[in-house]
Amino acid sequence: MLAKQPQSKALHWLGRQLFNTNKPETFLDPLVEQINPMWIQEYTPARVEQVIQDTSDTKTLVLKPAGRWPGFEAGQHVNICVEIDGVRRQRTFSLSSSPILWQETGRINLTIKRLPGGLVTNWIHDHLETGAVIGLGDAFGDFRIPEPVQPVLFIAGGSGITPILSQLETMAAQDYRAPVTLLYFVRTGQDIIAREKLEALTRRYSALTLEIIPTHEGATPRFLNDRDLDSVPGLTARQVYLCGPKGLMDLAGDLLAARGIGENDIHSTFFSAPAADLGDAPLGGEVQFANSDLAASSEGDASLLDIAEASGLNPRHGCRMGICHQCSCRKTSGTVINRLTGKASGPGEETIQLCISIPRGPVSLDL
Ligand code: FES
Repeated sequence: MLAKQPQSKALHWLGRQLFNTNKPETFLDPLVEQINPMWIQEYTPARVEQVIQDTSDTKTLVLKPAGRWPGFEAGQHVNICVEIDGVRRQRTFSLSSSPILWQETGRINLTIKRLPGGLVTNWIHDHLETGAVIGLGDAFGDFRIPEPVQPVLFIAGGSGITPILSQLETMAAQDYRAPVTLLYFVRTGQDIIAREKLEALTRRYSALTLEIIPTHEGATPRFLNDRDLDSVPGLTARQVYLCGPKGLMDLAGDLLAARGIGENDIHSTFFSAPAADLGDAPLGGEVQFANSDLAASSEGDASLLDIAEASGLNPRHGCRMGICHQCSCRKTSGTVINRLTGKASGPGEETIQLCISIPRGPVSLDL
């Protein structure tokens, strides 16, 4: 009964689209037939047109979304939905191509690094092939190119380069006329993602200065330092964009703050959830999923999303790291700890994000 409801709703929606006479070419897309009908309200079908091996652990998917996909801005993210062993899985990735490419060709790129133990990234690397159809959500995020035109410093680490690639391709295409510097930190020369694209960008976009810095090729690790920042002309007048591992982002934030660059001029996004100090108070508790008539108990720092999934529920979600808000859910009682900030919620009713909320004691949810 529970499973039947959304399916009939989705089929009803699909029926309405097929009989929409205003723009039939938008809806009579053969891709629609290749996606699970239960996904259709949330996701646009997108065909995998090409799979490119960038580095030993990074692949770029070239996707062609169906015509109804609304597009994106450089630096934004999307959720994708795939079915693995009969279970629908969603994850968030940054678009690595320019919106201009999408406007011209209808194609977009997602550049995806294999994560150790990552269920979805490993499946994508091992099983997703050209010709497959996946679900694509609408783009979101405000990691956007500054307007009006201003000098920019990008600091990227590892696969944190992906949204910045989209931004640089767009700035080059728009001939964004201000000094732009990219400091790109990689473990070794083998780990440079999109090396050829970056080299081509520096050739055709003269405003761009690119510095690729391997961190683990010498006898001791070599991280971002004051000399790197000294090498950026007019640093304090720049808008700074950070994307990379937490250690790099924290270090960059500290070095920039010491030079008087304030939070308003620093824009950051992350590709794995930074973890706050969660304190010593014991975590976990009894979770009531009131709408499903289910209860589960947890210990340690498992998120409410993990607990719900382990209980057989499949709450809506995307990024699993607090960015997309798709997992927002009403808590009716109980205290949760925010994994990103370490802060405790109030004890009463409020909307929380399941993926970054850890119960501390009994919690009841409208789920
Ligand atoms: S799944 Fe994206 S914020 Fe929770």
